[in-house]
Amino acid sequence: MILKCPSCQQALISTQNTYRCSNNHCFDIAKEGYTNLLLAQHKRSKNPGDDNTMMACRQAFLNQGYYQFLVDALVAILDNANDQTLLDIGCGEGFYGHQIKQHYPRAQLAGIDIAKGGVRLAAKRKSNNAPAYTQLAVASAYDLPFMTQNFDCAVSVFSPVDPPETARVLKPGGQLIIVGPAKNHLKGLAESIYDEFKPHANGFRTLEGHPSFERLGSTIIEQNATIEGASIYQLLTMTPYFWSTSEEKQAAIKKRATLSTPLAFEISRYKRL
Ligand SMILES: C[S@@+](CC[C@H](N)C(=O)[O-])C[C@H]1O[C@@H](n2cnc3c(N)ncnc32)[C@H](O)[C@@H]1O
Ligand SMILES: [Zn+2]
Repeated sequence: MILKCPSCQQALISTQNTYRCSNNHCFDIAKEGYTNLLLAQHKRSKNPGDDNTMMACRQAFLNQGYYQFLVDALVAILDNANDQTLLDIGCGEGFYGHQIKQHYPRAQLAGIDIAKGGVRLAAKRKSNNAPAYTQLAVASAYDLPFMTQNFDCAVSVFSPVDPPETARVLKPGGQLIIVGPAKNHLKGLAESIYDEFKPHANGFRTLEGHPSFERLGSTIIEQNATIEGASIYQLLTMTPYFWSTSEEKQAAIKKRATLSTPLAFEISRYKRL
């Protein structure tokens, strides 16, 4: 995996605690082990991406294992990812990358997210006492900080995907896996906020008709879950529903002991042509 300089697009070479390109653009490797490759002029806000509270709640919720059946489906679809190079696009706090690395310990895993707070948490995730991610950078999915044809596979779980950029960094024949919500995802949570639940449409970030990708298929997986205690509010906080939930409804959700809801995911697979 070779990082790319965001200023001049040349390869970055690591020297001690920095990455440097042939034009002498230099980027520090943070003590946690990630590199910030998001240039100030490419930021739309001071702290882009999901905020630290959302990240912490997502980490606490996902660590409880409610989405384990999604992890199982993902690792099964990856088939044998050992000795492969994988990219986790919009890795957030690193839950899925960490799980993938646990199943495929010889995989070379890279992750990017536009939120520095998320990347910092992902950098702390360990697998067999070593960092779960081989390479982690603060960067945008629309300007991936890697040289062309670096990866055997890219995964995006509920995160943005830019088809041309993703095609650029995948090897020909490489796989792209996109996970998004299926029809009934979090219906129980939504019903405790809105009068009416609007089902999700299938085809989250579909790449239908994109010339660089062939659709291999998609799988929908669904389970009913009973979310308990503090996990209910963490779930609310990690989703976009949070922003449209009144303080009154938030307080009511906080008091609930259990919440029953379907969890439903659509996993779409594409081949880089
Ligand atoms: C719903 S979260 C999913 C995080 C993680 N994949 C997971 O499922 O736990 C979406 C993530 O995309 C990140 N994000 C938003 N815009 C982005 C962009 N342009 N490039 C990279 N990441 C982005 C957010 O910061 C956030 O971490
Ligand atoms: Zn450079």
